[in-house]
Amino acid sequence: MFGAWQGSDAPLIARAEGIRLWDVDGKEYIDATSGAIAVISVGHGRQEVVEAMAEQGRKFSYVQGGRFAHDVAAELARELARFTPGDLNRAIFVSGGSEANETAIKLARAYQLLRGNPERHLVLSRERSYHGNTLGALALSGFGARREPYEPMLLQAPKVREVNPYRDGDGLSPEEYALVCANDLERAIHEAGPERVSAFIAEPIVGAAGAATTPPPGYFERIREICDQYDILFIADEVITGLGRTGLNFGVDHWGVVPDIIVTAKGLAGGYAPLGAVLVSERIDELFREAGQGFVHGYTYMAHPVSCAAGLAVLRIIEREGLTDNAAEQGAALFAQLEHLAAEHPMIGDIRGKGLLAGVELVRDRETKAPLDPALGVSMRLVRAALRHGITVYPCQTGPGQSDQFLISPPLISNAADIEEIVNRLSLALDDVEAELRASP
Ligand SMILES: Cc1ncc(COP(=O)(O)O)c(C=O)c1O
Repeated sequence: MFGAWQGSDAPLIARAEGIRLWDVDGKEYIDATSGAIAVISVGHGRQEVVEAMAEQGRKFSYVQGGRFAHDVAAELARELARFTPGDLNRAIFVSGGSEANETAIKLARAYQLLRGNPERHLVLSRERSYHGNTLGALALSGFGARREPYEPMLLQAPKVREVNPYRDGDGLSPEEYALVCANDLERAIHEAGPERVSAFIAEPIVGAAGAATTPPPGYFERIREICDQYDILFIADEVITGLGRTGLNFGVDHWGVVPDIIVTAKGLAGGYAPLGAVLVSERIDELFREAGQGFVHGYTYMAHPVSCAAGLAVLRIIEREGLTDNAAEQGAALFAQLEHLAAEHPMIGDIRGKGLLAGVELVRDRETKAPLDPALGVSMRLVRAALRHGITVYPCQTGPGQSDQFLISPPLISNAADIEEIVNRLSLALDDVEAELRASP
């Protein structure tokens, strides 16, 4: 019911600790994807997080968001402000990434209304992207396979060229290619009508839709300029890339760019509770305050106290244990070992990403970059082979004709031995798939 890999043969998990899971038969798996990409930040089974949630639950587990305030949400907002760039010091807490993106695009619209721009409602996004599965977030997403059944139900969200240095930009320097792609935002703004656009949303490093496709330097700097020029809010979707995952606090920090809104989730509560955050610049918040107007929006489980307690405990661990720096250090080891792996596995065409977010694109021919025959179902073969060898990988196909790609994103607590073990098991899984392909007619 929930997708091809979750059939009756899905392992039945009994317990988890650190970077590992065990099923009811005692088989061990390394959670090398951190769940559904980059969720498990501080590791499984951290009693400190569980205790913080229990303590909050004992005090009170729920109150109505807008009616009552509570310290745990305020404290989490203050703690998050220590991670965010620029003046993104205001936070709205929701239950996950999709809800957070829905909130962000409605906030952008409400902001434009307050500024006296009633025509501005369109949110531009990129051709290959993933922003969530609720209808608004799915409309933003350039992810054919997930959109296709629901296409007639989706809002209009014009698309901007993707940035894919592996498959695109031949003959251009990385800097030139970055500008060509960023300038496509300007084209899309003109096509939509600048007076109708409220925001542009992008993942700093593309997750499920692009297996860690990373833009060259200059791209986000130019995006920021264009957004400023046309008075459009720049929303960075850091649901995956936020809070240390890429070796810096946020993905945009790699390019020194400050968005107007950052959306984050997944690693924020590290898998202990559903939690997403919309981090908003003080400038935007001031506008609402000055207008004496609230943001007309809300969910029952906004700023859920137990989820906020989980988030706070997780952030404190990330800081105390230096997990952002660890992600940078272990990420460097991971990328070096993946490069070695490529020497043994000619199927590896490209390796990309940052920190502990690594993507691999598989090809039939490394020289020509020709994709593997989709009928071979290589990504799903790899998922199954990896599970046999006790490791998770996350397949990333956005639709028919897209080449085979996968992500690995181990927990931020991973150490050097863990990274070695992950790459060894991945190598065994690739061996299996190569053997299967040789054996297939
Ligand atoms: C970049 C990005 N944005 C949004 C989402 C949606 O988040 P959620 O599944 O928590 O609703 C995802 C989920 O994978 C994501 O990768």
